[in-house]
Amino acid sequence: MSSDKSAVTGILDELNRLVGECESALGQASSLDAVEAARVEFLGRKGRLAQAMSAMASLPGEDKPAVGKAANEAKARLNELLDEAQQARKRAAAAAAYADFDPTVPGRAPLPGSLHPVTLAMEEVATIFQRLGFEVVAGPEVENDWNNFEALNMPPDHPARDMQDTLYVTDSILLRTHTSPLQVRTMLAKKPPVAIIAPGKVYRRDSDLTHTPMFHQIEGLLVDTRTSMGDLRGVLAHMCRKLFGEDTRTRFRPSFFPFTEPSSEVDITCSICKGEGSCKGSPCRVCKGTGWIEILGCGMVDPNVFASVGYDPEKYVGWAFGMGVERIAMLKYGIGDLRMFFENDLRFLGQFC
Ligand code: DAH
Repeated sequence: MSSDKSAVTGILDELNRLVGECESALGQASSLDAVEAARVEFLGRKGRLAQAMSAMASLPGEDKPAVGKAANEAKARLNELLDEAQQARKRAAAAAAYADFDPTVPGRAPLPGSLHPVTLAMEEVATIFQRLGFEVVAGPEVENDWNNFEALNMPPDHPARDMQDTLYVTDSILLRTHTSPLQVRTMLAKKPPVAIIAPGKVYRRDSDLTHTPMFHQIEGLLVDTRTSMGDLRGVLAHMCRKLFGEDTRTRFRPSFFPFTEPSSEVDITCSICKGEGSCKGSPCRVCKGTGWIEILGCGMVDPNVFASVGYDPEKYVGWAFGMGVERIAMLKYGIGDLRMFFENDLRFLGQFC
């Protein structure tokens, strides 16, 4: 086949034309989408350039190099035009977005957070004990039966377990019912002297006006070669005065806990009626007219507990106590309803900054 001038000119004209048309199409394209549509129209698989190039197939061999070169140049130019148009539209969109931005409008201040009253009470108790040289320790909320019950002198059929039913993960793994397993964990991990305070969440199968299935406790433990119930009493009286005011009095009432012997419950003079039992002539509702409020359980560590953790009961003595933090916070901040702690109402929580 010999050179076909008219066919060559036809293709070259078409290449010139489509570059020109692409240029004017982009002049009209006001959005990124329109630029993309032009890219498909001119450079797509079945687009204008592809069509022009398919006409090349029927040209004689000697015409192909010149036409091929022109087609490549047209393609490069189209790409250049389309890329420029795309960048220009992107810059315009960014500028438009910035035009709506008014840097003089005052910002929205983030709500200042505050600590939950239960956290505040826990921190306050922990601080009182840290000043006395106690170390703060923590442990897992998912605990094993041995740490939670057995090592604390509560074998499987012990009746005291009835009051502490909980969620069992397996037969021997459970959500801890108190912070007392921290006594066990601490004593297994180190030798006396030991003085710890252990705040944390605990779980029980309890839910009514005055009980929630999850609540907080603080455990305390001191073990040494010499200490006494007198020390326990002095330390707890100090804590109560610091927490509820210097005029707060304490009394110990005999009680029972499997892990302490002897055991005691501690009452403080009611912070509402100041131990009077009545407010403005009518019986105080917080202490039910008695003038006293129970706040914790305590006692001398039972020798059986020492034996479980490998401490020599002949050599060491110790005392322990455990208290409910919600109760402490209610008394301290004058909160009448336990449920308020868990409703997450910011009007309530915001009062304890
Ligand atoms: N663990 C007890 C409870 O949850 C509270 C308690 C009482 C802890 C006496 C103690 C203690 O360490 O000595 O009811």
